[in-house]
Amino acid sequence: MNFSVSFAVILNICVTILVATEATKILCPIKTLIQLGDSLSDTGNAIRLLPVGPTLPAARLPYGKTFPGLPTGRWSDGRLIIDYAAMGLGLPLVNPYFNKNASFRNGVNFAVAGATALNASFFLSRGIIVPSVGSLDLQLRSFRTYLASICSTPPECGDYLRRALIFVGEIGGNDINFPLSQGRSLEEIRTYIPFINQAIANATRDIIRAGATRLVVPGNFPIGCFPFVLAAFSNNDSTMYDELGCVRSANNLAIYQNSNLQIALEALRREFPGVSIIYVDYYNAFLTTFRLAPLFGLNRTTLLTPCCKSRQYNLLNSEFCGNPTVPVCSNPGQYIHWDGLHLTQEAYRRISQFVIPNILPTVIC
Ligand SMILES: *[C@@H]1O[C@H](CO)[C@@H](O)[C@H](O)[C@H]1NC(C)=O
Ligand SMILES: *[C@@H]1O[C@H](CO)[C@@H](O)[C@H](O)[C@H]1NC(C)=O
Ligand SMILES: *[C@@H]1O[C@H](CO)[C@@H](O)[C@H](O)[C@H]1NC(C)=O
Ligand SMILES: *[C@@H]1O[C@H](CO)[C@@H](O)[C@H](O)[C@H]1NC(C)=O
Ligand SMILES: *[C@@H]1O[C@H](CO)[C@@H](O)[C@H](O)[C@H]1NC(C)=O
Repeated sequence: MNFSVSFAVILNICVTILVATEATKILCPIKTLIQLGDSLSDTGNAIRLLPVGPTLPAARLPYGKTFPGLPTGRWSDGRLIIDYAAMGLGLPLVNPYFNKNASFRNGVNFAVAGATALNASFFLSRGIIVPSVGSLDLQLRSFRTYLASICSTPPECGDYLRRALIFVGEIGGNDINFPLSQGRSLEEIRTYIPFINQAIANATRDIIRAGATRLVVPGNFPIGCFPFVLAAFSNNDSTMYDELGCVRSANNLAIYQNSNLQIALEALRREFPGVSIIYVDYYNAFLTTFRLAPLFGLNRTTLLTPCCKSRQYNLLNSEFCGNPTVPVCSNPGQYIHWDGLHLTQEAYRRISQFVIPNILPTVIC
């Protein structure tokens, strides 16, 4: 063993001891992971909701081709951020609520692909069609039904929820995506944002009132860097794009959405001192992954191109990923984008490396 190797080993041991000491000081016992959200965290609910679910793309290959090798209902080639959160906490992966055969011993996932934070009636009154299943209020209803099945008194339920880390979102992205795909302007959609974040804050408040004390509320990604937005805005006016090639105005909308969400969360923190309400910055974690792409072994020429090459971005159309005529790259590990709406396992893994280690130390015990 030469000097540099032994030095590295010693350094490593010291760091491990330091980290372990820190960990015993700050880690709260988290026994359960609960998730509400949309397709960014759906691990198999939407594909089980009849009648449409089983025909959705995520019920077919190439979804799941990297992990676990067959489709699970995850909208990616493999793992999602919630999977990396579970792994980081040393918990088993969290099963979808609508898999009635599954164990929920260490958590339960209520997220449904296509879910909006606002309910369908908000959009219907504005002439916008969104899925009628899965919205945040319906997920809260599932949450309450589930809670009633495992505890019967407020102290008992409080005891269960106090040991849980609860992800409320990402949710709210679809409240922008559906109006955008139905031709609404960014200016109009901007006026929905305070309502979207009020719906998220209201749901978070309801979960806290049920007894939860540790909640994580992620913001939206820079949607202007997503293929479905790039396609919707495709144009040869170079001033529309930022230095990364993303649609500036769409990213600005996501920035406003996220800052408005943080204001709503700050008000909740004042309402519930002693409850941890952690904002997670998916926006910058994505951009950092994008900027460090070459270092991470991602192919820099396809950073804005999906691995599964959907020719349009309506899930129900035969030109969307999951249909036999849609080509799939052989190396999803070199891509950020999976199907144009969702990211690859590799992107979620990198993003998780930025955001997950920041969550636990900020939890109040
Ligand atoms: C539960 O398991 C049975 C038998 O394996 C299967 O037929 C059924 O589809 C499963 N139910 C759900 C909701 O996954
Ligand atoms: C939708 O949300 C609004 C505002 O919270 C509520 O008044 C209404 O009852 C909800 N509609 C449905 C169908 O759940
Ligand atoms: C949030 O809750 C407030 C107070 O109950 C209510 O007035 C408002 O309509 C709710 N907003 C949404 C979007 O659900
Ligand atoms: C930009 O697009 C317009 C309309 O599609 C076209 O007429 C024009 O020639 C294009 N300009 C360049 C520089 O490609
Ligand atoms: C990156 O992707 C391009 C386009 O698919 C391809 O031609 C090139 O060989 C790839 N580079 C590497 C290093 O894999």
